[in-house]
Amino acid sequence: MMTPEKMSETTKEICGLAPVIPVLVINEVAHAKPLGQALISGGLPVLEVTLRTPNALEIIREMSELEGGVVGAGTLLTPHDVERACEAGAKFGVSPGATETLLSACEEADLPLLPGAATSSEVMRLYERGYSAQKFFPAEANGGVAALKAIGSPLNQVSFCPTGGISPQNAQDYLALSNTLCVGGSWVAPQDMLERKDWQSITELAQAASILSA
Ligand code: 3PG
Repeated sequence: MMTPEKMSETTKEICGLAPVIPVLVINEVAHAKPLGQALISGGLPVLEVTLRTPNALEIIREMSELEGGVVGAGTLLTPHDVERACEAGAKFGVSPGATETLLSACEEADLPLLPGAATSSEVMRLYERGYSAQKFFPAEANGGVAALKAIGSPLNQVSFCPTGGISPQNAQDYLALSNTLCVGGSWVAPQDMLERKDWQSITELAQAASILSA
């Protein structure tokens, strides 16, 4: 049984490994290793594979074999998702929001979770339970940098990985906030590059993202 406090310690360490966590929506199992390798080589070792495609679990398994990567499962919605993510070898989990049953499932499964929150009350509820590292989602639609900065005044004990609408244009503004650990985003692995198997361009996007300063 992992406590939320311990989980937050671990998720903060993971978020400290790179300024950007790629949010990956992958269809082809064959893309798992070359894509993971392209991102790791570009300096982004923390990889969030969303459970939004039928092959996501197999992809987590494959990607986890890569040297130097830390592969987690995103879009965790239910205890069943937590179970499947753990079986696939996910090292951490990410959820768009949080429910009591999801939190309990992650705590019981020892899966460090970055739980999503969008409002002060959601942040407070998670903090009360012991989660001091959270995902601010959906970041841009929810007020962006200004909202996250404002939340940070009264709730400065909580640090965030904002995700949703982050791009090379606004990532640095988030990273400059004192309550931002890193950002999450899909821009480093665009679907068209994946389809073309253009791993070199993905490595270049990762390189540009990896030098943003947290
Ligand atoms: C998502 O929901 O897919 C993630 O939050 C990533 O959002 P993005 O595509 O806006 O980076």
